[in-house]
Amino acid sequence: MLLLGRSQYRCALSTATLLSFLTCAQAFYLPGAAPHDYAAEENVSLFVNALTPMLGSSDNAKLKSLINYDYYNPRFHFCEPTGGPQKEPESLGSILFGDRIFNSPYDIRMMQENGTCKTLCTAEVSGEDAKFINDRIREDYALNWLVDGLPAAEMKMDRKTGDVFYDIGFNLGNDEEEFEQMPALHNHYEIVMKYHKPTPDVYRIVGVLVWPESHGGPQTGETDCSSNDPPLVLQEDQVQTVRYTYRVIWSESDTPWATRWDNYLHIFDPRIHWFSLINSLVIVVFLCVMVSMILLRTVSRDISRYNAIDLSEDVQEDWGWKLVHGEVFRTPQNPMVLSVLVGNGAQLSAMVIVTLVFALLGFLSPSNRGSLATVMMICWTFFGGIGGYVSSRVYTSLGGTNKRKNSFFTATIMPTIVFAVVFLLNLFLLAAGSSGAVPFGTLLLIIVLWFGISAPLSAIGSYLGSKHGAITHPVRVNQIPRQIPPTPKYLRPWAATLLAGILPFGAGFVEIYFVLSSLFASRAYYAFGFLALTALVVALTTATVAILFTYFNLCAEEYRWHWRAFLTGGGSAFWLLAYGLFYWASRLSLDSFSSVVLYMGYLLLLVLLDFLVTGTIGFLATYWAVRRLYSAIRVD
Ligand SMILES: *[C@@H]1O[C@H](CO)[C@@H](O)[C@H](O)[C@H]1NC(C)=O
Ligand SMILES: *[C@@H]1O[C@H](CO)[C@@H](O)[C@H](O)[C@H]1NC(C)=O
Repeated sequence: MLLLGRSQYRCALSTATLLSFLTCAQAFYLPGAAPHDYAAEENVSLFVNALTPMLGSSDNAKLKSLINYDYYNPRFHFCEPTGGPQKEPESLGSILFGDRIFNSPYDIRMMQENGTCKTLCTAEVSGEDAKFINDRIREDYALNWLVDGLPAAEMKMDRKTGDVFYDIGFNLGNDEEEFEQMPALHNHYEIVMKYHKPTPDVYRIVGVLVWPESHGGPQTGETDCSSNDPPLVLQEDQVQTVRYTYRVIWSESDTPWATRWDNYLHIFDPRIHWFSLINSLVIVVFLCVMVSMILLRTVSRDISRYNAIDLSEDVQEDWGWKLVHGEVFRTPQNPMVLSVLVGNGAQLSAMVIVTLVFALLGFLSPSNRGSLATVMMICWTFFGGIGGYVSSRVYTSLGGTNKRKNSFFTATIMPTIVFAVVFLLNLFLLAAGSSGAVPFGTLLLIIVLWFGISAPLSAIGSYLGSKHGAITHPVRVNQIPRQIPPTPKYLRPWAATLLAGILPFGAGFVEIYFVLSSLFASRAYYAFGFLALTALVVALTTATVAILFTYFNLCAEEYRWHWRAFLTGGGSAFWLLAYGLFYWASRLSLDSFSSVVLYMGYLLLLVLLDFLVTGTIGFLATYWAVRRLYSAIRVD
C-alpha cells in the first residue's frame, strides 16, 4: 500500500468533489507488483510483442489493417536470440487481446555502455519478403517492446493541449513521400532508458523511449550508428543485407516509480469527455423530468380518477391503460426465448458492473497486461448463476412451464453462439497468417471455463430461481384476450425500437468512439471514470425510455409489452451497429478481406452484447414499472 505513491495521493487530495475524481481516475491504479530494483550492470531484459497496425498521428489518419503479426514471423527477419525465441507466460486476457510476448537478443545492462553503438545482427532479406515488409510499412505497422513491464514508446506532443506524452509503440518504417514513395525500413533504434534513483546504487526503470531510424549505406563492416546515410529502402527484386543496430542511452529522471505510467496514460482531449458527459447528463435530466411529469401528473390523476369513479357509479366504462388490466400479464409469445435473453443479459450486466467497479478502484493496473479482459472473462464465468436465476424466474413469471429446457438453453446458447463466432474469426486470422489467432490451448481453456464452470453455475441458479417461483402479479389475467385497436405508427415495434434507441445512444456515443478506437486502433483507454458515469447514464436512459414507450403502448391499449420493452431497451444496439459502419467508413481503410471480416465479426459481437445488456435493462425496468402501475389501481 505504500507503493500507491504520489499519483494516488494527488487523487486523494482532489477527490473533494466527485467530478475532479473523474479527471484523475486515469492515474488511479494500484501498481501490479513491487518495483524491480536493478543494481548497476544487472541485465535488463527487453521483450518483444506482436506487431500491430497503428493509427497515424494526423487528424484524418485511418487505420489500414486489423491483423497482428508475430515479431518473429520469418518474413520480417528480425534478429533472434541464440537458441531461438522463448515465449513468455501471459494471462488469459492478454492472450485474447493479441499479446504474443517473446524474449529478444538485445544485450542491455543497467548503466553500462551509455551511448555505445552496437550491431545486433545482419539479415538477408529476399525480394519477396522485402515486398511483405514494405506493405506492412505502408500499413503503418508498429513494433511493441516491453522493458520491466513498460511499453517502449515514442515521445509525442498533443497538438491540442501541448502536453508531452508517450505514444505506445514505434513505427516499423517510414512511409513518407520525401523518399520517392518507397517506404524506408527502420534498422537502427536509439533506446532511451529513463531511470530513477531512489537511493544510491538502486535503479528503477520509469520510462522507455525509442527513436527508430533508417540507416542506409553499406550494411556490412564497422559502423558508428551515424545518421548521415540515406534511408534504407528495401528492393523488391533482389536479396539484400540489412544490418540492425541499436544504442542505449541511460537518462536520469525524477519521475518516481509509482507514477511512471502517468506519461503513457494520456487522455486525448479531456474536453471531449466532458462534453460527452454533459451531453448525456442533459439527456438524462430531460428524460427524468419528462417521466416524472408523466408519472406524477398523468398517472396519479388516472389512478385517483379510476378509483373515484368506481366508487360513485356501479357500471363504469374503463379507458386508457386501465382497460388492459386483464391482459398485461398474459404470457407473451416465446417466453422461452425472451427469458433466455434476459438471463444472459443479466449475467453480462453483472459482469460489466463489476468490471467497471474494479477499473474505477484502480485494480486493473496497466502493467498487469490484459487484466481488463481477464477480469471480464472470470466475472462472466462466475456470474453464470445470476443468469440462470434471472432466466428461470422470468420464465416462470411469464407463465412458462418447461423449466428444464429453459435452464439448459440459458446455460448453453449464448456461449455457443459467441464461441462459434470467435472460432470462425480465428480461422480467418489463421488463414491470414496473423499471430492474433487465439492458440488452441486458450480456446480449450475458454471451453472449460464456459461449459465446465459457467454452465453448472447457471444450472444451480436456475434451480434456485424455480424454487423461488414466479413473481406475483397485482391483477388477474382475463380468460379471453381483448382485441387490440390499431396502434399509431410510431408505436409499431421497429419504429419504436429505432426511436427509443436514439436517446441512450446519444447519451453514450462519444465514449463509444473512444472505446472503438481502443479496441480496433490499439489506443490505450483509461478514462474509466468517464466510462462508468456514461454507462450509468445510458442505463438510466434505457430504463426510462423503455418505461415511457410501454406506457404509451398501454394507453393505446396495446398490451403486448414484453417483447416491445426488450426491443425498445435494446434499440441503441441498432444505432451502435450503424455507428460502427460509420466508424469503418470514416476511420478505417481496410484493404484486405480478412480485416473486413474481422471488423464485422467483432462489431457484430459488440452489438449483440450491447443488445442483450440494454434489452435486459429495458425489460426488467418495465416489468417493475408495470407491476407498480397496476398495483396502484383498484380492480373489481
Ligand atoms: C546477462 O546476459 C549475458 C549475455 O546476454 C549473459 O551471458 C549473462 O549470464 C547474464 N547474466 C545474468 C546474471 O543473467
Ligand atoms: C549518457 O549519455 C548522455 C548523452 O549522450 C548523457 O546525457 C547522460 O547523462 C549519460 N548517462 C549517464 C548515466 O552517464
